[in-house]
Amino acid sequence: MRQICFLALLGFPLLAHANDPQVDDFGSTQDGTAVEIYTLKSSTGLTAKIMTRGATLVQLHVPDKDGKSEDVILGWDDVAGYESEDNQYFGCSTGRVCNRIALGKFSLEGKEYSLATNNEPNHLHGGAERSLDKVVWKAKGYSNDKGQGVRFTYVSPDGEEGYPGELKITVTYFVPADANRLTISYKATTDKATPVNLTNHAYFNLSGAGSDTVLDHMLQLNADTYTPTDETLIPTGTIDSVEGTPLDFRKIKKIGARIEKLTNTGALGYDHNFVLNPKPNDDSPFNLAAVLRDPASGRTLRISTDQPGIQFYSGNFLKGQKGKSGKTYAHRSAVCLETQHFPDSVNHENFPSTILKPGEEFKSSTQLSFGIIKPKAE
Ligand code: GLA
Repeated sequence: MRQICFLALLGFPLLAHANDPQVDDFGSTQDGTAVEIYTLKSSTGLTAKIMTRGATLVQLHVPDKDGKSEDVILGWDDVAGYESEDNQYFGCSTGRVCNRIALGKFSLEGKEYSLATNNEPNHLHGGAERSLDKVVWKAKGYSNDKGQGVRFTYVSPDGEEGYPGELKITVTYFVPADANRLTISYKATTDKATPVNLTNHAYFNLSGAGSDTVLDHMLQLNADTYTPTDETLIPTGTIDSVEGTPLDFRKIKKIGARIEKLTNTGALGYDHNFVLNPKPNDDSPFNLAAVLRDPASGRTLRISTDQPGIQFYSGNFLKGQKGKSGKTYAHRSAVCLETQHFPDSVNHENFPSTILKPGEEFKSSTQLSFGIIKPKAE
């Protein structure tokens, strides 16, 4: 009833929609800010829980081949887990600029900017103190005849984490009533030119968070090329073919089949930005980016996006931390498939631009569609 306002008195139907998502208290941050968690459900078995700290995806339950639901993303049962040293950006909204910026430096419109080097010697995922994953967002749940959603907003002040311009950001999570799909959409506007690159950092294990490694998961990436990096994971600037390398996922392959060839590199496994092949000429803004399949549970995940790249990270820095229900998150026990612009774009003129200018609107959208492996015909 709290949604009634004076417009309703004028006859406008502003009562909360009967199907609005459930919202619950999720405790508070160390500094005492209350955190809420929203639950979005489809009628076909998907449940997503997203909290206001970091506009973070906390749980994502999807059915397996026998209809049994399991939470397929890593995380914690409380805010303290997310605030701990063990949190490696689990499920969060990542930015203002996700991925790395070389030496934390860039220049824009004749001015030099210096950011936190929180991943020596580089800047990672928007900074050390007030990156988007660490702040508490405002939220509003909604529903319509297509499904349920929650819209998170945050205004990042001019100069926060060293970035120019006041950036107004909206992240919307939406679950359609009739499909096991989660759509994550971003919008941003600024009052000064500034780099923006936003993604979600969910760690997936389709056998259920806390299961064994993902080395038996099968992956396909719609990418003929990738951006090679130096040992600190900063792109050299070239765009190379995946042909003949362990990065060739044009046909579906086991993640573990060639990973050892990358163990002794700076990435310690897969931690690469793939350049998505151009979108076919159709009416949809979405391009297929990745297909992930888990033969054990039968679960599949298809990722489609309007972004030019996808960072495939094979959880090489997971260290056996204890997560939800005391489960252990072992080395390579999850994969991140982060749709985004290329790393360090702000320092590479040949990469698609990440600069947002006043008067423009940044927009991006990614769909996570879950299914099951179809049994082979007899
Ligand atoms: C990204 C990076 C990885 C790592 C994780 C967080 O995916 O590419 O190198 O920093 O985030 O641990």
